Amino acid sequence: MSKSVEEVRAEIPFLRTGIIYLDNAATTPTPEPVIETMLAYYREFSANVGRGLHRAARRATEEFEAAREKIARVIGAKPNEIIFTKNTTEAINIVARGLNLESGDKVVTSVFEHHSNLLPWQRLEKERGIRLEVVGSSKECLLDPAEFEAVLDQKTRLITTHQVSNAIGSIQPVEEIGKLARDHGVLFLVDAAQSVGHMPVDVRRIGCDFLAAPGHKGLLGPQGTGFLYVREDRIAELEPLLTGGGIVENVELHSAKLVEPPQRFDAGTPNIPGIIGLGRACEYVLDIGIERIAERERKLTELMLEIGKNSQVEVYGPRDLERRGGVVSFNISGLSSHEVASMLDELAKIAVRSGHHCAQPALRHLRVNGTARASVHYFNLESEIEKFVEVVVQIARELGAS
Ligand code: ALA
Repeated sequence: MSKSVEEVRAEIPFLRTGIIYLDNAATTPTPEPVIETMLAYYREFSANVGRGLHRAARRATEEFEAAREKIARVIGAKPNEIIFTKNTTEAINIVARGLNLESGDKVVTSVFEHHSNLLPWQRLEKERGIRLEVVGSSKECLLDPAEFEAVLDQKTRLITTHQVSNAIGSIQPVEEIGKLARDHGVLFLVDAAQSVGHMPVDVRRIGCDFLAAPGHKGLLGPQGTGFLYVREDRIAELEPLLTGGGIVENVELHSAKLVEPPQRFDAGTPNIPGIIGLGRACEYVLDIGIERIAERERKLTELMLEIGKNSQVEVYGPRDLERRGGVVSFNISGLSSHEVASMLDELAKIAVRSGHHCAQPALRHLRVNGTARASVHYFNLESEIEKFVEVVVQIARELGAS
């Protein structure tokens, strides 16, 4: 039986503080079953993984490895295609550092990325002389596969883009871009930071080689967790970001034989409670039903877009709900985005993010320094969105420039 909104709300202690939490694109609150799972680790089997033979170590290892299978189920992958990370940023860096890109190789990305999918490539531009090509021109921050196609050349190794924009909410045509990449023999990395858990994501349908995602956003998992999907036949060629203890079969003084992937990427003691908690969070969202989450977020987003009816409020991004995730970015004329966010908090305990959302080129493209950004998840109530709309309109009427 799928969980109702009321059941989910009752299991999220943070919501009992009375906050209207509309900052889900930054991070999401943690449900009790996920918290309980992490506490159970600390209380009952607080041992290291992949190292010990005692019963606590065995249980910790089993539950840690089971998280790969649970994550894989969410995205239609196999457990041995899942690498644990601490966030999306680390996942993207593993691809950037591990792919052996060389001087003259081209990487294509977009203007609308958050910084995590731009800075790792900029670093390779400086350090290794790769060529970074950045596309994207639409006012709604929507990507056109033809823009990618136009810049491909013989030395293009990778296309990378987000599935849902964190700053604006636009949903990108990743399946079409994936097909384009395959047709041209180019690798494809999807940044799924704002899509996994919020909407159905299937790596086979997208046809991507890599997909990077957080545990602590759409999946309602703990902060400090994330993962990288790597297609089975690509994973052996990817160099781990870290090397060290816990990933070796044999070590000599000047050489080492590493274990097979994905465990090859687990150097050092990992975030064991976090990863086990993430596994539980995956079960939790699968229990709600990801299609159901997407449908509800679409409804809530439609309600949020009501703010755009006020002439002092400018809403950015696509109007078409099929092309927009549960993120609404806006400004009130005459006020800075930080002023708007502070007033929403003061007047009605409404939490939104403000500023550049770690996507400065995207905002520069829109010719703004910042926006206020409201972002939903399944647990948000229609009445919360109505309150949000009411308070935004009140601020616009009383303080916005006409
Ligand atoms: N990338 C996260 C956000 O958009 C932190 O807020």
